[in-house]
Amino acid sequence: MDLASREPGIGTLPPRARFTSSLGQQSLNGEWKFQLSPSLAAAPAGIEAEDFDDSGWGTIPVPSSWPMHGHGAPAYTNVQYPFPVDPPFPPDLNPIGDHRLVFDADESYQSGAVLRFDGIDNTADIWLNGELLGTTRGSRLPSEFDVGRLLRPVGNVLVVRVAQWSASSYLEDQDMWWLPGIFRDVTLIANPEQAIRDIFVHADYSDGRGTLQVDVDADLPAKITVEELGLTVDAGERATIDGVAGWSAEQPKLYPAVISTELETVELKIGFRRVEVVDSQILINGRSILFQGVNRHEHHPDLGRAVPRETVESELRLMKQFNINAIRTSHYPPHPDLLDLADELGFYVMDECDLETHGFGMNAWRNNPVDDPAWRPALVERMTRLVHRDKNHACIFSWSLGNECGTGDNLRAMSETAKQIDPSRLIHYEGDRNSDYVDMYSRMYAPVDEVELIGQQKEDRTENPAADEHRRALPFILCEYVHAMGNGPGGISDYQQLFETYPRLVGGFVWEWLEHGIRRHTEDGTEYFAYGGDFGEPVHDGNFVIDGLVSADREPRPGLHDLKKVYEPVRIQLDPSWSAITVTNKYAFNNLDHLRLDWSVDDAESRYAAGVLPAIPVAAGEQLTATLPPEIAAAKHPGAVITITARLAADTAWGAAGHEVAWGQAGAVAAPDTAVAGTAPVVSDSDRLQLGPATFDRATGTMIAIDEVEFDGPRLNLWRAPTDNDNGMDHRAKRRDSAAWARHRLDQLQPRLVGITELDDDQQPVLEITTRFAAPSFDRHVDLIARWRSDGTRLAADFRIEPSGPWPPSWARIGLDFVLAGAHQQLSWAGYGPGQRYPDTGQAAQLGYFDATVHELQVPYVRPQENGARKARRVTLSDGVKDLTISSEEFAFTARPWSQAALAAAEHSYDLVADGKVHLTVDHRQQGIGTASCGPGVLPQYRLDPQHLSDADRRFGLVFEVVGR
Ligand code: GAL
Repeated sequence: MDLASREPGIGTLPPRARFTSSLGQQSLNGEWKFQLSPSLAAAPAGIEAEDFDDSGWGTIPVPSSWPMHGHGAPAYTNVQYPFPVDPPFPPDLNPIGDHRLVFDADESYQSGAVLRFDGIDNTADIWLNGELLGTTRGSRLPSEFDVGRLLRPVGNVLVVRVAQWSASSYLEDQDMWWLPGIFRDVTLIANPEQAIRDIFVHADYSDGRGTLQVDVDADLPAKITVEELGLTVDAGERATIDGVAGWSAEQPKLYPAVISTELETVELKIGFRRVEVVDSQILINGRSILFQGVNRHEHHPDLGRAVPRETVESELRLMKQFNINAIRTSHYPPHPDLLDLADELGFYVMDECDLETHGFGMNAWRNNPVDDPAWRPALVERMTRLVHRDKNHACIFSWSLGNECGTGDNLRAMSETAKQIDPSRLIHYEGDRNSDYVDMYSRMYAPVDEVELIGQQKEDRTENPAADEHRRALPFILCEYVHAMGNGPGGISDYQQLFETYPRLVGGFVWEWLEHGIRRHTEDGTEYFAYGGDFGEPVHDGNFVIDGLVSADREPRPGLHDLKKVYEPVRIQLDPSWSAITVTNKYAFNNLDHLRLDWSVDDAESRYAAGVLPAIPVAAGEQLTATLPPEIAAAKHPGAVITITARLAADTAWGAAGHEVAWGQAGAVAAPDTAVAGTAPVVSDSDRLQLGPATFDRATGTMIAIDEVEFDGPRLNLWRAPTDNDNGMDHRAKRRDSAAWARHRLDQLQPRLVGITELDDDQQPVLEITTRFAAPSFDRHVDLIARWRSDGTRLAADFRIEPSGPWPPSWARIGLDFVLAGAHQQLSWAGYGPGQRYPDTGQAAQLGYFDATVHELQVPYVRPQENGARKARRVTLSDGVKDLTISSEEFAFTARPWSQAALAAAEHSYDLVADGKVHLTVDHRQQGIGTASCGPGVLPQYRLDPQHLSDADRRFGLVFEVVGR
């Protein structure tokens, strides 16, 4: 095996589109013989011989990633190559996976056949019946070989030697697990001499008129029939058809077409659409498109990169259900089935070449393949293969040259090649800021203020002045933004607002759709998701591979719910009197006929009233205000919340009738009754103080019970178990909030009782307890002054904090911790729910009345961290015997079965063990979440800066009450 060759693969057929012919094909997927060797030198010789004795080998399913089947181990790195950067040489220690399959091929293949591999990671030598067919390059691209002459009806021996590393590994440095194997389908395709070699569909659209030309590469004449359009044309003939429905993500109209020669027929689905840049916007079929997208990798928690079609299908449905309309296939061409599904379900796809050389950046970009002519043939060939494979998909609006390769002329050559083959789509590449060979200005993680300047065309000039005019006129896309790692991403709405304000900002793709956790079990059988380092990799990037909107097994994280709300295609606003509704249709093509507007009014007791609104006809891009039926305003009463929900009126390919698409609300949950008269006297004995239902410890000043409910607190809390966003990216340590918190020991605050005073406030007995909280080794402190009063039943406290000394630039929260007996497992609250909400997240949380157990409040992030805060005006914790209620104008709470310290110390979900208590934190203020795990930190308006606290920040009140059940 020549693993150090920079050249493209050898022996492969020219690239072409994937299609299925009536001539037939046979899947060679299944159980193959398999053996893994640690290096090429250690791998057995002679495996290609038909009579090679593989009886001692094991077996493996094909397609598969072999480390997922007990051979070797997965390894995760982001930017860094896990081997020395010594191009084009791979390391000697290079796992070799030998695969053998014996198969029969019936008559239909004897007169000509093609053997197709849809993906082999990283490179393979392939033999059939003892003869070398060739060598593959480009893990996520197909390789086809002409095999007809070698086939026999029975007992063909196919041998594939896969090397994990080769020269081409330098081109495939994507941020993901290294997972070698034959991970996509292997197919034998009948291909007699006069079979169709390739098909290229050109289907343009303008104002209801379609233009169709299908080029067919075949020796026989071919005809194209589109029955639904009553159309039959010859191959290469151009037809113009009136009354055609265009294809879009909103209305993915596909026309079944049959391409036939006297030998065979091929069925295709054709979507008519035109992609163009006009006035710095991207138009599809004449309408300006806002891309509300996600970056999608291919990953399965048990199978690695061999993702079953059902999984892909269900995840695309999930994307549609969450209002996502675009996919960037980061950072390689996806399994081709994905594109069929995207055509059918409706997504705008940015199809990316299998190319990333990011690790050269750690070496000052020396010898970067994109800037070295020796690599040009291989890079241009990759691009050619991508465009040819996928050219017939209506869903693809853009070809992307690759990801994070720095700059170099080979990229320009790739762009020119793609344009030459297919001028109908836009070219994307983010890494060259001059943008002179691309059709859109693209950035990743650009901060909100900079994006706004770009929206106004006021951005900095390009490095190369000659390119400035071109770039300034381009549409702007964020190929990656809002990094969905752990709790977050914060600030999605702030970007969306800009996208909806400035036409040049055409949207973006969230990083990223999916977490790449690998499912594992502890010795006692507890399931968890493993991340970088969990397989003993000497070089790895930890949990940076866990940064998705859905878990590895496709469970939506809170961030996906928030994104759905931010991306909602219909905005519903109600006037304060509930008598009028304003509906904004944000679709580019759809009117609202496919939606039904339900309304419901809820209060603390029940669903008070509900109904369906008459249809409100709003054309795409328009807004309409309509009067609501009078029964709605009549249902308004204190504590009532109205929700108007746009739901699918009928089943669609991706959602059932009734599926929620968008919503709007008005009203407010019941205002808390915070007026508590201080009538109860303070009763004291030697070590206790009693005020109404509350018992305080004289020595510490803490409340230890209310009405016999054990209740230990309050303790001032300024910290949180750092989120991935608080931690930020390691190499941007300056921006790490959590590091500053650790330096100031916010996690180690100690209380000292300053004093307890009985006051008489306007004839009302008040117990004032002052506690000083400070961290070891530092003289700065925060005094917490609590003034307690009671009417004998309820207990009220007015809290004031007085900070002194220099504090870090931010606090995580201004909160109070309480510890309750573990029996208080059941919660109900009035406020926002059912999900979490932080100052810059929680767009999905609705106003209303909610119930949950302590367990249900936890968000099981793969690396445990702060989570689960609910914003409320009232929360009740119940042990089944007594209900403890806390209320205030507005606060947030978290309730956990473990302490905040335990949460922060945990590295995996299995580290979290309930300690038999309920740990309740009541927050007066919290800092936002931001997206600093990769990108901008918490925006100024969501920061909690102890240097700039207002009086309202320092003061808050809570009312406590215990009621027996
Ligand atoms: C980008 C990169 C992605 C991913 C992301 C962070 O720089 O393109 O592949 O690494 O950062 O998760």
